[in-house]
Amino acid sequence: MPSNTVLDPHGAADAVPAEAVTPLIRGVAVLRALTEAGGTLSPSGLERATGLARSTVDRITSTLARMGYVRLDGRDAVLAPRLMELGNAYLSSLRLPALLGSHADALADELDESVSLAVGDRDGIRFIHQATRRRAMSLSFRIGDLLPAERTAPGPLFAAEWTREERESWRARRAADPEDRGFPAVPPREHRDSDGEFERRAAQAGRDGWALDDQLIEPGLVAVSVPVRDPRTDRIACVASVVSHTSRHTATDLHDTLLPRLRAAVAGMERELAGAAGAEPGPPPSGLATWTGASKQELGREFVESLARGLTVLTAFGQGRAELTLTQVATATGLARATARRALLTYEHLGLVAPGPHRAFVLTPRVLSLGFPPLSRTSLPRIAGPHLAELAARVEESAGLAVLAGEEVQYTARAGAGRVMSVDITVGTRLPARATSLGRVLLAGGPDVTDPVLTDVRTRGYALVDEEWEEGLRSVAVPVRDRAGAVVAAVNVALHAARRTVEECVRDVLPELTATAARIEADLRVAGRFTRVPLS
Ligand code: PHB
Repeated sequence: MPSNTVLDPHGAADAVPAEAVTPLIRGVAVLRALTEAGGTLSPSGLERATGLARSTVDRITSTLARMGYVRLDGRDAVLAPRLMELGNAYLSSLRLPALLGSHADALADELDESVSLAVGDRDGIRFIHQATRRRAMSLSFRIGDLLPAERTAPGPLFAAEWTREERESWRARRAADPEDRGFPAVPPREHRDSDGEFERRAAQAGRDGWALDDQLIEPGLVAVSVPVRDPRTDRIACVASVVSHTSRHTATDLHDTLLPRLRAAVAGMERELAGAAGAEPGPPPSGLATWTGASKQELGREFVESLARGLTVLTAFGQGRAELTLTQVATATGLARATARRALLTYEHLGLVAPGPHRAFVLTPRVLSLGFPPLSRTSLPRIAGPHLAELAARVEESAGLAVLAGEEVQYTARAGAGRVMSVDITVGTRLPARATSLGRVLLAGGPDVTDPVLTDVRTRGYALVDEEWEEGLRSVAVPVRDRAGAVVAAVNVALHAARRTVEECVRDVLPELTATAARIEADLRVAGRFTRVPLS
């Protein structure tokens, strides 16, 4: 790697190859800027963060919006859950989360401490799995977060395998970014440790086969880490860490009490990797024809086709499709070879794709920098919010999302109709489940339903109730299902009985409601593939 690349910890400062696709470089810059800003930026914020002209920013955000990767909220651009399909492509091609995630989860349960898996990402570490305990004391990192290697426990283990060039680029980054501003997930560096200190830790970690983080990120946060080796190459595939707080364990006692159990769990992970059969190829990417087949007229004048085509290249990768040749990428995406080649070249330049074995290409962990950290902090109410607002505007009635809380339903998201006479219930409101359409849908989704009212709801797929708890109120609800098909929430439209008859509710409102539930479910499937999405 030429030494100038490290001066910009985020992007390549290498000369841009002549054949690189400029709109793709710009689109990636917009996605990264939004990610670093926590998910939302105004157009002028995007101009400042990317250095692009306003008209370019507008064309890029409207293209990303058309692809479902961002949402335009007034003038602001907001990252949308669908964007997580890019990070999912990397995580499913890597296979480690699928193979080792349950081992990490079991260890977290056994120890009642957070357990994470991280891969090396140049001179940083990036999380690919988190089994997090909910605790108030310290920050917790999410899948996709990037940390500077020297402020972590996994870092020295990866650094023990660094080449001389990699060590040099690490030093140059430290000098160019003394406060770790290039790592938005961590508080600024305060401790002025010498480069030599980390190099000693790396050498020690290489000898010991474990490493500690004694409050290198923030006071109180401690971690112990062990490498998980790929049985085929004997190189580090990822590093498993147990993370705790000094109120429960000092760093020394993490080593004394928890390291043996972490080691046993890692031995199990390595057996899992040794026994894993070749990955079955997953389904081919979908939705590609939309950009490749649709006419300019359908897509709109603002639509930047080369950006859309380029982004679909990332989704060609996945489970059983970790290493793809140019021909395979072109076949999977339906793009012309020359187009696919230029996109791959652009991604290689951006550090999102790397050369793999046998003239193939692989995705790099940096793909997770395209939206994953802020989006993996989302929840079902936040996913549902924009869809409810759209529904409310369409049917001109208020819409809501609720979950079951014992014998009651609790509203977790709402969107008003913007009329004076609409039904107004605030988030957090609880109502008796049995008396509401939301509750009936949720109860009907449960196991062993025998009640005839609920079996009827189950058969129809919706509930329509002239609400017993408020006279003159009519409400229709449908279920929201998770990836596994379990009913996890319900959406409804509530209106005054005088506004629509029961028949009109079924004819006009129900199809809109069903379409809304399908959109929420689609987002939930993408967001919930590798992260746990809180339901409230
Ligand atoms: C984490 O999983 O949050 C973690 C792991 C290792 C560290 C710090 C934090 O050194």
